[in-house]
Amino acid sequence: MQELLSSIYLFLKSGHVIFMVFWLAGLFMLPRQCIYMLDHAPGSPGEAKWAERMGKLRTIILTPAMIIVWVLGLSMAYAHGHFSSGWLHAKLTLVLVLTGYHGWLVGQTKKMARGERPLSEKTLRMIGEVPGILLIFVVLLVYFQPF
Ligand code: HEM
Repeated sequence: MQELLSSIYLFLKSGHVIFMVFWLAGLFMLPRQCIYMLDHAPGSPGEAKWAERMGKLRTIILTPAMIIVWVLGLSMAYAHGHFSSGWLHAKLTLVLVLTGYHGWLVGQTKKMARGERPLSEKTLRMIGEVPGILLIFVVLLVYFQPF
C-alpha cells in the first residue's frame, strides 16, 4: 500500500493543494455570506435566499473539500513516513484548529438560517481572517519543515 501511494505521490499532492484552495475559498466566503444575510430580517425571503446559498456552499464545496484534503494529506504522510515529523505534528495542530473553526462556523450559519443572529457584523469580519492567518503558518511549516 505504501509503495502504491508513493508511486502516485504527485497526484496526491496536486489533489491536496487543489482541494485545500477550494476549502480555504469556502471558508473565506462563508463569513461574508453571513454578513450579507444580516441585511435581511429573520423569516424574510432574503434570509431564505442566503440560507439556501450557504447550504449549497457547505454541502457542495466546503465539507467535501475538507474531507478530501484530510484523506490526501494523511495518505501522503503515510506514504512518505511523515507521521514522526515534528513539522507535521505542528501542522496537524493548526489544521485541527481550522477544522474546528469550520465546524463552529457551519453551526453558526445553521443558527442564522433558523432566524437567530448570534454574531455581529464586526465579529464576522474579525473571525473571517482566521483561515488566512492559519494558512500562512501551515504553508511555512510545509515548505520549511523546520523541525
Ligand atoms: C488536513 C490535514 C493535512 C495533512 C495530514 C497534511 C499533510 C501533508 C503532507 C504529508 C504533505 C507533503 C509534504 C511533502 O511531501 O513534503 C503536505 C503538503 C502540503 N500541504 Fe498539507 N496536510 C493537511 C492539510 C493541509 C492544509 C489545511 C493546508 C493549507 C491550509 C495544506 C497545505 C499543504 C501544502 C501547500 C503542501 C505542499 C505541497 C508542495 O510540496 O508543493 N495542507 N500536506
